Amino acid sequence: MIHLATLPGPADFTAWRQAARGLVAAGIPPEAVEWQVAGEAAGLFAEAPAPVSMAPLGVPRAFVEQATVAIRHSDRERFALLYGLLWRLVQGERHLMQMATDPAIIRLSTLVKAVRRDAHKMHAFVRFREVQAEDGPRHVAWFEPDHHIEEAEADFFVRRFASLRWSIVTPRRSVAWDGQALAFGPGGRRADVPPDDAMEPLWRAYYVSIFNPARLKPGAMRAEMPRKYWRNLPEAAEIPRLMAEAPRRVAEMVARGASAPNPRPQDARYLDAHLSAPARVPADMSLFTALDAHPDPERALADLRQDLLSRPDLPDFAARATQPVFGEGAVGAKLLFVGEQPGDEEDIAGRPFVGPAGRLLDRALEQAGVARAETYMTNAVKHFKYTPTGKRRLHQSPDAGDITYYRPFLAREISAVGPRMVVALGASALLAVTGRKLPVLKTRGQVVTGLTGHPVFATVHPSYLLRLPDPALQAEGFSAFVADLRSAHAKA
Ligand code: URA
Repeated sequence: MIHLATLPGPADFTAWRQAARGLVAAGIPPEAVEWQVAGEAAGLFAEAPAPVSMAPLGVPRAFVEQATVAIRHSDRERFALLYGLLWRLVQGERHLMQMATDPAIIRLSTLVKAVRRDAHKMHAFVRFREVQAEDGPRHVAWFEPDHHIEEAEADFFVRRFASLRWSIVTPRRSVAWDGQALAFGPGGRRADVPPDDAMEPLWRAYYVSIFNPARLKPGAMRAEMPRKYWRNLPEAAEIPRLMAEAPRRVAEMVARGASAPNPRPQDARYLDAHLSAPARVPADMSLFTALDAHPDPERALADLRQDLLSRPDLPDFAARATQPVFGEGAVGAKLLFVGEQPGDEEDIAGRPFVGPAGRLLDRALEQAGVARAETYMTNAVKHFKYTPTGKRRLHQSPDAGDITYYRPFLAREISAVGPRMVVALGASALLAVTGRKLPVLKTRGQVVTGLTGHPVFATVHPSYLLRLPDPALQAEGFSAFVADLRSAHAKA
């Protein structure tokens, strides 16, 4: 006799586990079970099993971890595959999960990889469009996942876009976040989502700015950004032109040679036109995040270094710096600190925050009980800007144009690291990550949403403390700074 196991949803691991426990307890082998999802076509043999509440079966953790992911695959045989594996585990095949050549284990791993890949694509290619709802603006995105990942991935978007009200509509499901709670509903149609909005030129300008013709690998690009997603991507309209122009631009770069002065390319002017006025960038719009949610953050960071190194249009002061100073720390760090720019010692060492301000920051972190390993440190501007005065190089503050120039690199860095909280140290950092000229002392201790969608905690720059005129003020300032770091850590 065939037993029909009906699940309430297509990716409901809890319900599958409940049903599977009941079937195991009743001694029903895999070949005698037919799985279906409520609402989908019923099989020929209809005998719904009564839900049975059973003690856990004590299967290896690796099975549970992989099954939780694999169940989201759209393969109709996934429930049966999982039950077959569960059956073998409870029959005593204790080392089944380590048998990498077992066909069922190979299949399981294929499903898991496909679901994870689909999730990465969703992180990278969801694009929100702003719509005016009756109760204010809402951001809506259309996405077509291959698998049942909408519910599982909703948390990723909640973390990234916590302060926006958004909906993601897919053919099978819709997910909505109102700033407080998630709601899931039926799927929708592509036509329900506006094809573009005022942010379109910004997306396009950003993409153009990060496109490096010398690194163009059409095959890899198609693999990472399959055509199916292009119609939802504002920047995709730029791709054919950029690909067509790439050989000419590379030839020009080679002909100019590394040391020849480079004209500012037209693309940079296009970017300037759209990004140079911070006021035009809505502060809570998450411009950059999704584009860079990268399946391989280390590679994303390596790529962005390479991109900065090969920029033909760096600001003049970059040529006087010893080297660019990139960020440093743990990918996935809880806290990502953004400073202003490397100072004299950082410029020579090629590492951020190793000079006097860095030493003060280290002491404050220690007192706040924050391990450096939990942090990532970087700067808004990646080259030391200074005025040469005799033997000394006098720090010169970056202006809004410098900050705008480096902003796409910073945004990519933040997105690749994926911190829980960005800590903006001082006014330049705050401008870089929010696009707004916020007063530091008034904003200090508050959390605002950055351009990448990450929460940003504002505090003072450590060199502000070094400049305070007397030791009493410095001690007071230092305690307040430590309290800020503690608070940022707790909020993260
Ligand atoms: N000041 C900064 O803002 N960044 C550094 O890396 C060093 C000093």
